[in-house]
Amino acid sequence: MSLINRQLRLKTRPEGLVRREDFDLVEQPVPALKDGEVLVRVLYISMDPTNRVWMRDIPQYLPPVAIGEVMRALGLGRVVQSRSAQYHEGDLVQGVTGWQDYLVLHENANGYVRLPADPGIPLPTLLGAAGMNGVTAYYGLTEIAPVQPGETLVVSAAAGSVGSVAGQIGKIMGARVVGIAGGADKCRYLTDELGFDAAVDYKAADFKQQLKAATPDGVHVNFENVGGEVMRAVLSRMVIGGRVALCGLISSYNSTERPSDDFGVFVMKRLSMRGFLVLDYTKTREAVQALGGWIREGKLKAEETVAEGLENAPEVLNRLFDGSHRGKLVLRVAAQA
Ligand SMILES: NC(=O)c1ccc[n+]([C@@H]2O[C@H](COP(=O)([O-])OP(=O)(O)OC[C@H]3O[C@@H](n4cnc5c(N)ncnc54)[C@H](OP(=O)(O)O)[C@@H]3O)[C@@H](O)[C@H]2O)c1
Repeated sequence: MSLINRQLRLKTRPEGLVRREDFDLVEQPVPALKDGEVLVRVLYISMDPTNRVWMRDIPQYLPPVAIGEVMRALGLGRVVQSRSAQYHEGDLVQGVTGWQDYLVLHENANGYVRLPADPGIPLPTLLGAAGMNGVTAYYGLTEIAPVQPGETLVVSAAAGSVGSVAGQIGKIMGARVVGIAGGADKCRYLTDELGFDAAVDYKAADFKQQLKAATPDGVHVNFENVGGEVMRAVLSRMVIGGRVALCGLISSYNSTERPSDDFGVFVMKRLSMRGFLVLDYTKTREAVQALGGWIREGKLKAEETVAEGLENAPEVLNRLFDGSHRGKLVLRVAAQA
């Protein structure tokens, strides 16, 4: 009996939040493998804010997903058939899986990592704290804007995947860490469970006063995930010569309006800001080893929110924008193959 592959293909470019109607759910038989190909059963799909950017027809670091194309996404799957000497049945494969049940992968395709059948770390964690998101936080704080012991680090979207790791790495590096998140529960999570020194609720009416109280010595390093009003408030608290690791600007991803350019503060405070993309780091062994070590030693808490069902991918992606998850948001599309 032939296997059926379900795919979510981009039908219309979403405006604002993503709707299920923006995608076609297509079912078709999995093709027979050719020499050098493997069939991967997708197990988990990584839900990333950048997925929303990929749906937009704007200049960006990768081509936008074309209308009719399977929605691009990172993920993790298991090889269930192989006509390659390089991949064996049972191997785990990480890379661009897309929003689909099965991926036909050529052994020479770039950007895929083969993992041992049992990597010793829960699979969702490999997409979060021990994977791409953890690596992003690691290089942001070790290479882009290194934070020194005793300095104050402010992290926005701090209860999310990248932010929660960035804040904990800041603590490991000896910084005073202040997290910004939406709501009292997430703020409590940051201080009580992740060991942040302070947390500030950007949804509270007194957000700016809270931020001022939490940063009595100013802000030396800002690990920025949000942009907009949140970022402006942090910049206003920065010390002269402060550094910004510009990781992301999630507050603008659903918007068609250009964020306002307000760079005066960079002059006044002689700030430096460096944007970065984790995909520029092709050799990530150092980061992955450090992250895995911290997780095993209990110094880095990895948390994931696991949603279910390929067909729910559009609605699940929206959870990145309403804040109804903690840690890494992943979508499970199959039980262990
Ligand atoms: N540079 C890179 O290579 C790279 C790689 C990965 C990710 N990133 C960036 O890192 C950032 C975080 O990504 P992630 O995957 O770790 O997602 P995440 O933090 O797990 O989820 C996004 C969080 O952002 C917050 N948020 C959403 N809309 C917001 C808004 N309008 N204002 C303030 N906060 C808002 C929400 O938290 P609250 O509940 O606190 O509102 C939400 O939980 C994103 O900007 C992403 O693009 C960059």
